[in-house]
Amino acid sequence: MTGQRDQLVVVSNRVSGLTGRGAPGAQGGLAGALEAVLKRRGGTWCGWSGNERGEFTGDVHINYRDGIRKATIDLEPQDVEEYYNGYANSTIWPLFHCRLDLTRYERNFGKGYERVNKRITDCAAQLIGPGDLVWVHDYHLMALGKGLRMRGIANRIGFFLHIPWPPVRLFSSLPFHERLVSSLLKYDLIGFQCDEWLENFLHYCRKDLGAAVDEQSGRIKYEGVTTHARVYPVGIDFDHFTALADTPEAQEAAWWLRSSTRERIAMIGVDRLDYSKGLPERLDGIGCFFERHPERTHDLVFVQIAPPSREDVKSYRDIRARLERKTRQINDAFSEVEFDPIRYVKRGFSQAQLYGLYRAARIALVTPLRDGMNLVAKEYVAAQDRLDPGVLILSRFAGAARQLDSALIVNPHNPVEIAQAIRAAMDMPLEERRSRWERLADNVRDENVHVWAGNFLHDLESV
Ligand code: F6P
Repeated sequence: MTGQRDQLVVVSNRVSGLTGRGAPGAQGGLAGALEAVLKRRGGTWCGWSGNERGEFTGDVHINYRDGIRKATIDLEPQDVEEYYNGYANSTIWPLFHCRLDLTRYERNFGKGYERVNKRITDCAAQLIGPGDLVWVHDYHLMALGKGLRMRGIANRIGFFLHIPWPPVRLFSSLPFHERLVSSLLKYDLIGFQCDEWLENFLHYCRKDLGAAVDEQSGRIKYEGVTTHARVYPVGIDFDHFTALADTPEAQEAAWWLRSSTRERIAMIGVDRLDYSKGLPERLDGIGCFFERHPERTHDLVFVQIAPPSREDVKSYRDIRARLERKTRQINDAFSEVEFDPIRYVKRGFSQAQLYGLYRAARIALVTPLRDGMNLVAKEYVAAQDRLDPGVLILSRFAGAARQLDSALIVNPHNPVEIAQAIRAAMDMPLEERRSRWERLADNVRDENVHVWAGNFLHDLESV
């Protein structure tokens, strides 16, 4: 199998539009962003099919759609257990989100991670032509750059991390941390979502690894190889997303929300069900608001959309049970005959439906405890009516807070701050809502997903 000439080859664990057993309930930020970029630029997208097969065959399934060649492989159940549920989602994900208490490391996880990185390397290597630009994504595939170099692939290879990079002391608690980073440093360019994650990474490279680091340019020299690390905040496909406004699906979803909340203010949260999203803490903030302002209990309905994810990992099942318990507690304390103040919806929605729901919601609560970027915050801004926009309440620990600083910024660990922000959002005069929103919308429009990809790929060619 040979590659076309000078194309973009994207590699990620998830490839959008697949329906395998491991496919997510809702399309995540990474898959949506890469789909938009590849639809515009064309190219190849390589990764896991989402399917498990009894025995690994290495067969590559190819399909062509919207100018994208998708090339995927099936994994064995042991791969899924050790690589996806294990190293990626029980070791790296909790550690990188500063949840050392949930971080589990087993030697088999590390072996499974290397095995699957090798399997995906084998798949990608068959597809890369001599002049192609290769762009690898996220924490599942940090070792891929090294694998491709070992196969003699000399192309420009970039890597983008969609999640945070943890502080140096936390990261160095990972067994064999040097090995992971020395693989990562085989890429030509490494992208992070915001300054803080980049600084943590550079700090580690200089302090623990002993690499020569130039903080200004992001240049890192280690074991005779030079790489660059820089910030590229991911955005949304602004034009595509706002074009959903006129679809019947979006309008119908906006109508559901408006007609079911009637004269009450609708406040919305949309998240993958993940402990990093701060959902129980968010409910504590809402409970605190109702306690402090009992006279406003009838003015507000909170709709939390949280489709389950990674359910084979225990910490994800636990967070679901915790959220259900807290929702019940608040509803028991504050519900009336005709309504519950909190609605917890467990299914996913299409992008058009989300557009409608965001538009009909006067407030969005986006309060992760730690988040690489958070594209829900950007989608909410893009969906607003410019004449009567809603208010975004945003965690200071989301990468998006660096760009969206005209939102109401809160500490998600402090229920009183969340309660105060809800009150301020409910009472905010139209003029202030408009002026805050205009600044937010300028950023979301200007720093869109195509600008993100353009900047990264330009630098990948020129570093
Ligand atoms: O945050 C990293 C990320 O890749 C997101 O972009 C995406 O929403 C999520 O993880 C998807 O997770 P999974 O592939 O495990 O369903």
